Amino acid sequence: MRLFGTSKINGKGHLTIGGCDVADLAMQFGTPLYIIDEELVRKNCSIFREGFAADDIDTEVIYASKAFINLAMCKIINEEGLSLDVVSGGELFTALKAGFPPEKIYMHGNNKTYQEIEMAVKAGIGRIVADNLLELELIEEVCRVSNKSVDILLRVNPGIDAHTHAYIQTSKHDSKFGESIFGENIESMLQHLKDSRNICLKGFHCHIGSQIFEEESFYSEADVMMNFLAELKEKTGFVTEELNLGGGFGVYYSKGDRPVDLKICLKNMLEIVKKQAASLGIKQPKVMIEPGRSIIANAGTTIYEVGGVKNTYSGRNYVFVDGGMTDNPRTALYDAKYDAIVANKAAEASAAEFTVAGKCCESGDVLIRDIELPMAEKGDILAVLSTGAYNYSMASNYNRIPRPAVVLVKDGNARLAVKRESYEDIISNDIMI
Ligand SMILES: Cc1ncc(COP(=O)(O)O)c(C=O)c1O
Repeated sequence: MRLFGTSKINGKGHLTIGGCDVADLAMQFGTPLYIIDEELVRKNCSIFREGFAADDIDTEVIYASKAFINLAMCKIINEEGLSLDVVSGGELFTALKAGFPPEKIYMHGNNKTYQEIEMAVKAGIGRIVADNLLELELIEEVCRVSNKSVDILLRVNPGIDAHTHAYIQTSKHDSKFGESIFGENIESMLQHLKDSRNICLKGFHCHIGSQIFEEESFYSEADVMMNFLAELKEKTGFVTEELNLGGGFGVYYSKGDRPVDLKICLKNMLEIVKKQAASLGIKQPKVMIEPGRSIIANAGTTIYEVGGVKNTYSGRNYVFVDGGMTDNPRTALYDAKYDAIVANKAAEASAAEFTVAGKCCESGDVLIRDIELPMAEKGDILAVLSTGAYNYSMASNYNRIPRPAVVLVKDGNARLAVKRESYEDIISNDIMI
């Protein structure tokens, strides 16, 4: 088990994060509870900000907000000087409400609606990342009606086979995202854009997948994309100003995970872009990246109260917790692996192998399969580690279970960032007929 950021075990044998005893946080805010280590979020931002920079190349780090977004997170990201990637009207709305500078917002999505594009264009966001020709036509239409213009990137698919779970692999040839750099569609889109009065194409965006551990995948991506830009220039004369290489940097969740060394990987990516620009004789584009998980995953911990332990006829020991796939669907969705610790018995040795199961009416509602833990009992606090990314943002109200609260902890203080949902919240949109 690895602890990240400010997480420690105190003299009482309790897990502490940001100087706060997790058992106290459970008492104060209830469970389940998402705890965010603010210092670690800020540190991760600085690793990208400083690591993806060079004197002779213009760069930008864009936080992929789908990993974890709310008003407080938008504020932190802005304070840390990163830009923001949003993928829906809801994420854009949150960012704008948080006062995030619109010109630093990038809007993604493979099927944006007219209303979402209109919202983005009216707000004057930095770039829309267009997915396909139909979307270009829609953006054109919105701009014409609202008499505005917009800068865009085209989402392309370099066909890199990154080794990660199939559901989070986004760049294989049959991906639903973007247009393949090997097909004809990109040239048709460039042709289409030549006549556009309202859309200015700045460059290209790609994203090869998520939770990637092979740094070679990122290098191939940079290399393939630079060759693509050169070929495109040769064929069409188009000069690319901006190249966005997406996110996908893997993080440590459990034993066996070996994240890339970001400092080395980011530097090498920039080197490849620079070298290729020189050797292919093309203009050095501004380069962007879009980390999500690697900014927030290790900074999040979810705590639960243990309801009890059950031993099945087959010999499996279950620890039941008061949350589950509603606050963390990743195990059920793609067999994600997590580490956990009994937060009020953090110094105790493990006693047996357990399966941590939630309270939803689904056999698949399991958070962790087969983990060594001390003997857990009713009332203990179980902390599942590295749950910052794609947990809160993917949470649901299945079984009408309210979504947990989110607290930010730092220097011994805990600040509520998102209130716990109430049963009233759950029926707030229901209409009695
Ligand atoms: C377009 C795009 N950019 C960035 C990201 C962030 O990826 P990660 O959280 O793995 O860094 C994603 C996630 O799927 C994405 O689809």
